[in-house]
Amino acid sequence: MPFTYRKGVLCADEVALDEIARRFGTPCYVYSAAAIEAAYAEFAQSLEGRDARVCYSVKANSNLAVLALLARLGSGFDIVSSGELARVIAAGGDPRRTFFSGVGKSEAELRFALEKDIGCINLESEAELARVDAVAAKLGKRAPVAFRVNPDVDARTHPYISTGLRETKFGVAHADAERLYRKAQTMKGVELIGIGCHIGSMLQESAPYVAAVERLVALVDRLERGGIRLKHIDVGGGIGIRYRDEAPQPPAAFVAGTLAALGERPHTVVLDPGRSIVGNAGVLLTRVEYVKPGAAKSFLVVDAAMNDLIRPALYGAWHDVKPVAESVPGNAVYDIVGPVCESADFLAKDRRLAASEGDLLAIMSCGAYAMVMSSNYNTRPRAAEVLVRRGEAHLVRRRESVEDLFALERIQG
Ligand code: LLP
Repeated sequence: MPFTYRKGVLCADEVALDEIARRFGTPCYVYSAAAIEAAYAEFAQSLEGRDARVCYSVKANSNLAVLALLARLGSGFDIVSSGELARVIAAGGDPRRTFFSGVGKSEAELRFALEKDIGCINLESEAELARVDAVAAKLGKRAPVAFRVNPDVDARTHPYISTGLRETKFGVAHADAERLYRKAQTMKGVELIGIGCHIGSMLQESAPYVAAVERLVALVDRLERGGIRLKHIDVGGGIGIRYRDEAPQPPAAFVAGTLAALGERPHTVVLDPGRSIVGNAGVLLTRVEYVKPGAAKSFLVVDAAMNDLIRPALYGAWHDVKPVAESVPGNAVYDIVGPVCESADFLAKDRRLAASEGDLLAIMSCGAYAMVMSSNYNTRPRAAEVLVRRGEAHLVRRRESVEDLFALERIQG
């Protein structure tokens, strides 16, 4: 467990969080390198002996230090913008081991990706196929491509993060896939190398995931009979983690189901996990500004807010809250809220906590989809990021200053 109490103080590995708050201030995200390494190793081990590649999904946490850590472990990357590709390159990652997904890639993004020798472009529409073919031809290149196929499988997760159903914007329809592969085969600017799917995020069970893989495999067999031979099958990310009392099946169960569905087929298996690598490797460290008792509700007003962690407001997500100084909860029940002027600005609701002004709290499970989804709403500078590695805390993103926030603006006239 990366975050545990030692001598009554919550620590990130062996570094006390109160010490990190003292050095770097609050609010502040704290990540454990050891936890990220362990999560990556779990995937690597479950795939051992198989031609496979883990492509960490950059959108979950794109801090350069996190990407560099994963690049050193041998991870590939799954990206959704040229900005993310630039990050991968800046962190020492290999563009040839990077897969480019997303429904709205611009011409400029495609050009940049091809110039950098992207490993694969995951096509999500017929219009995109035409665009990639044209951009590649202009560059005198052949773009390595795969279609992301929408398998029309219910991932049984939150509707906002469910992506594998027919009515979502993602991927090409299963029924269109064969026709599109045949069309792509005739085009000079593209080289068909794979196929992919991603049915959603925070999956608890492997069954819908494996069902999607089975549909993909059946399609691969049909394509092969038609003379289209692919090198890889990308089965997506989406493996859930424990925020509260969920008991998601471990990555090994998803991998085992995937490998069983693939059987003896020689294809390289590609996985693009995000949350399951970094989600529980991080916390958001915050300080209580005010204790505000009330008739209907009592509040702990803290210095982190919805602009630092939007998940509770956006998805009704539940994050555990732990006092940094170990304490026995009393009878007081609080909503933990930030300073932002919105009623949706809450990080947690109805929590029994013993806390006073100045106390530090850790919002748990903030390694994924926390900092990356942060904003400057209310002109709030974004929080610092700290990576704990081998017993030492490193500042891996300095806190923004207010001047940073308006540095790009001009007063006209
Ligand atoms: N691959 C593709 C094509 C994706 O769209 C995603 C996530 C992943 C991989 C990584 O999924 P993961 O392993 O992290 O579940 N902001 C939401 C999650 C959005 C996920 C979007 N796509 C949240 O905070 O829950």
